[in-house]
Amino acid sequence: MNINLEHITVKSINEKIELVKQLKIQKKAVILAHHYQSMAIKEVADIIGDSLELSRKATQVASDLIIFCGVHFMAESAKLLSPKKRVYLPNLNAGCPMADMATREWVLEKKKEHPSAAVVSYVNTSAEVKAVSDICCTSSNAVKIVREISSNEIIFVPDQNLGSYVQKLVPSKTIHLWRGFCPTHHRIGAEAVMSMKAKYPEAKILIHPECKPEVVELADVVGSTAQIIKACEESDQTEFVIGTELGVVESLKKQFPSKRFYLLDEAMVCPNMKKTTLDDVINTLVNQTGEIIIEDEIQSSASQAIWAMLERS
Ligand code: 13P
Ligand code: SF4
Repeated sequence: MNINLEHITVKSINEKIELVKQLKIQKKAVILAHHYQSMAIKEVADIIGDSLELSRKATQVASDLIIFCGVHFMAESAKLLSPKKRVYLPNLNAGCPMADMATREWVLEKKKEHPSAAVVSYVNTSAEVKAVSDICCTSSNAVKIVREISSNEIIFVPDQNLGSYVQKLVPSKTIHLWRGFCPTHHRIGAEAVMSMKAKYPEAKILIHPECKPEVVELADVVGSTAQIIKACEESDQTEFVIGTELGVVESLKKQFPSKRFYLLDEAMVCPNMKKTTLDDVINTLVNQTGEIIIEDEIQSSASQAIWAMLERS
């Protein structure tokens, strides 16, 4: 079906959702969305997932037009993995402050200090940082990656909280941490967990490892977005306190309407993940705005670090 866009004046959210659905068929595009996106964006997505799931799926989709609703490093990772495909980030202002905290220069400096250390970079990094890394990881596989790589000395960049969590579970290795953090997870203190435990004594506490160690310490389950969702699905309990971004609570409520989910703290909203709107997606589908372009000299080394991770996951 062909749509004449010049004559369309879209009014309601439902009409916009319908328009995106029609446009993506017309343009043969696939929409990938992280769980932290708004419900309207998740409504038009073909695939919803966490960082690891979306990286994997980006390599498998048949379409060569990917609209990535997430933040910049995610769309960039999809482009690194599928350089021949056109990958778009509908709102180019959707960055990740934690990814911006790590620089290629810092990694190179640390490599000079610790020449035998392997560089493990969280996918929440720029392509420039990935290009000087040995392997990437996500919060789903960080422990496994660090445990399994041959080096006993690791430079872990950029998340100090995920790095500390990995260090605790892999004490045999020496991990040099960078001091990066996710503003959305790092702002939460142990008192938030104590107050939710008092309010919902029957609830299971699930915490993302981007939270501070004293918060993670109080969790019943520590896990990435997908691991938190799986734990809620498999649990016989009916009440859950979710210590990660609001979008995960929204996904859980939709997926498991008979269970009850409470956000650990109302401040756990990632403003960057909420920047992408249906209007941005429509604009990208119509005008091809927000294409991700990666310099040739970075492409090969940065993609190797992500492929190395996917081979071990
Ligand atoms: P996961 O998707 O790996 O849980 O990571 C969360 C995150 O912060 C994404 O930006
Ligand atoms: Fe970055 Fe944190 Fe937002 Fe994830 S939740 S995109 S780590 S700022």
